[in-house]
Amino acid sequence: MLNKNWFRNKFWRQVLELATPEGASSYRDFTFKNWCLRRLGARVGENVAVGRRFDCLLHLLSALHIDNHVNISNDVAIYAFGKVSIGSFTAIASHCVFTNGTHDISTHQPKAGRLVIGRGVFIGLGARIIGPVTIGDNALIAAGATVISDVPEGMVMAGNPAKCIGRRPLAKRVWHFPDLWYDPSTFTLIDNPAGEAQPLPQNEP
Ligand SMILES: CC(C)(COP(=O)(O)OP(=O)(O)OC[C@H]1O[C@@H](n2cnc3c(N)ncnc32)[C@H](O)[C@@H]1OP(=O)(O)O)[C@@H](O)C(=O)NCCC(=O)NCCS
Repeated sequence: MLNKNWFRNKFWRQVLELATPEGASSYRDFTFKNWCLRRLGARVGENVAVGRRFDCLLHLLSALHIDNHVNISNDVAIYAFGKVSIGSFTAIASHCVFTNGTHDISTHQPKAGRLVIGRGVFIGLGARIIGPVTIGDNALIAAGATVISDVPEGMVMAGNPAKCIGRRPLAKRVWHFPDLWYDPSTFTLIDNPAGEAQPLPQNEP
């Protein structure tokens, strides 16, 4: 049966979609969308970009905390049944799915735990993060990986279930959308030296 929540959710889903800029080139383009997400209860830092067709549990959005300088690409779903936090300078590619809710396999009773994504984490296309888990700072989750346990900082994880395939070799400065650079040991912005700017990747998914 249609109730007040049905109309509310339908309304906000439309607004969130309309508030998503096409071909954004700056975090400023996401100001209105971020305002909407905050209005719905999420904690959203400065300079956050959440792409098109973002799916979430609207009525539980207060469980979602996104730190500053976080880039979430299109078609990402975050089902936050318990607290989900995403650290600064983390980048999430398209078609990733996150959840921290499950059911007891014996009683089927629903339960949820905390899902923590550290700072400077890169999560590749179509990865699935099934919490509660903690992903350490600067970890890299390969495209298509399914993470079901904690990931130590700086590890590269791939496969299903995701296994460590190496350590991420970190440069002194790391690129971040739209053309920012940060220090991966302090997670602070670095002035972009003249002439070293890299163009935005084209046809980003
Ligand atoms: C994980 C990743 C970063 C590895 O890149 P790389 O360091 O250049 O690694 P290589 O291609 O040399 O592969 C190293 C090993 O990891 C394996 N591997 C690489 N990517 C993998 C993946 N997604 N899943 C499973 N195994 C993978 C390779 O088969 C190879 O194994 P081998 O040593 O047994 O031959 C890359 O494959 C990836 O997944 N990138 C994300 C791409 C993406 O999501 N783009 C979205 C647009 S922003």
